[in-house]
Amino acid sequence: MLSVVVFFSLPMLVASALKEVCVRPGQAATLQCWGPRDAHITLLEWSRPELVSQGYVFFFQDQRSYENYQHESFKGRVQLRDSSMKDGDVTVILRNVSISDTGTYDCQITTSSTRNGERVVKEFQHSINLTVTESVQINITAGQNVILPCRAPNIDSNSKAVVEWSRADLGKDYVLLYRDEQPDPGEQHPSFKNRVDLQDREMKDGDVSLILNDVTTADRGTYECRVFRRRTNRRKRAHLETDPISIITLSVVDPPGQTGGDTEDGVSRGHPGLVAALSLFAVIASLAIFIKLKPPPKTLTDDI
Ligand SMILES: *[C@@H]1O[C@H](CO)[C@@H](O)[C@H](O)[C@H]1NC(C)=O
Ligand SMILES: *[C@@H]1O[C@H](CO)[C@@H](O)[C@H](O)[C@H]1NC(C)=O
Ligand SMILES: *[C@@H]1O[C@H](CO)[C@@H](O)[C@H](O)[C@H]1NC(C)=O
Repeated sequence: MLSVVVFFSLPMLVASALKEVCVRPGQAATLQCWGPRDAHITLLEWSRPELVSQGYVFFFQDQRSYENYQHESFKGRVQLRDSSMKDGDVTVILRNVSISDTGTYDCQITTSSTRNGERVVKEFQHSINLTVTESVQINITAGQNVILPCRAPNIDSNSKAVVEWSRADLGKDYVLLYRDEQPDPGEQHPSFKNRVDLQDREMKDGDVSLILNDVTTADRGTYECRVFRRRTNRRKRAHLETDPISIITLSVVDPPGQTGGDTEDGVSRGHPGLVAALSLFAVIASLAIFIKLKPPPKTLTDDI
C-alpha cells in the first residue's frame, strides 16, 4: 500500500460518558466509551494501567475479541454492550464485579478511514474510574465486641495510608482516623474513645477492619470505611470526598435477660454475632485484593 498514514491522538469526543461508576460486589458495571460514528474501528483496547503488562480487560481487533490477550481475572466476564459497535459504541459490561475490580479503566480506540485516497488512522482515549463498595449488615447483642470488615487492597503499613472510619450521623466527628501508624484522637467522637482500633495495625493484605469493643445500642448506625494514600502532612480530613470501600450497617439489640458469666474471649460460643462478623470477614478476606486506590481528595493535595 502506498497510502500515507496520518496519526492523530485526540481526546474522546463524547463528553457525556460517565467517568465515575460505583457498584456493589456481584453486580455488573457498565463502562461507557464511544468512538466516532463514521469511522471503522480497527482496534479496541480496554485496559487497567496497573495490570496492562499481564493482559487486557478486553481486546478487540479485526471484527473479533481475543480472550487470550485478556488478563486472567477478566476472562469470561467482559462483553461489548453492542456487539455491532453501532454509532461507535464500544461500551463494555463487566459482570460479577468484586472489590479487586476497583480502579481506572482506559478505553483506547483506533479507527481507520480513507480521505482523498489516503488512509487516515486516529486514536481516541477515555478513562473511567470504577469503585466497588462492599455493603454488609451485622447484627449483634449489646456488650459484645464486633469487627467491622474492610479491605483495601494494595495497602499495608508502609503505604502511608490514611484510614477513616466514620458514621454519617456523627457529623464531622469520626469513629477512628488512623494515620502515621497510629490513631489520631483529634476529632474522634467521645463515645469511641478507647473502644476502637484497627484489627491489624500492620494492615496486612490491606486489612483495615475496625474492632469496636463493648458495643452498646447507641452504636447502631451505618459505618463507612475509606482509605487514602497520604500526600502531605496537612491535618485535614478527606471525609466524604471519596466513595467508601465498605459500608456496614450495625444493628445492636439488648441482651435477653442478662445472666452474666460471659467469658472475656469475644469469639466464645456465647457470641454468635461476633462469630458471624468474623466469618463474614473471612469471606471478604478471601477475595482477591489487588485494587488501585483512588487518589487522595483535593483537600489533601492541592491547598498546601
Ligand atoms: C462471582 O465472582 C466470585 C469471585 O469474585 C466467584 O466466587 C463467583 O463464583 C462468581 N459468580 C458468578 C455467577 O460467576
Ligand atoms: C439482621 O437483622 C435484620 C432485621 O433486623 C434482618 O433482616 C437481617 O437478615 C439480619 N442479618 C443478619 C446477617 O443476621
Ligand atoms: C481516576 O482516578 C485517577 C487516579 O486513580 C485520577 O488521577 C483521575 O483523575 C480519576 N479520573 C476521573 C475521571 O475521576
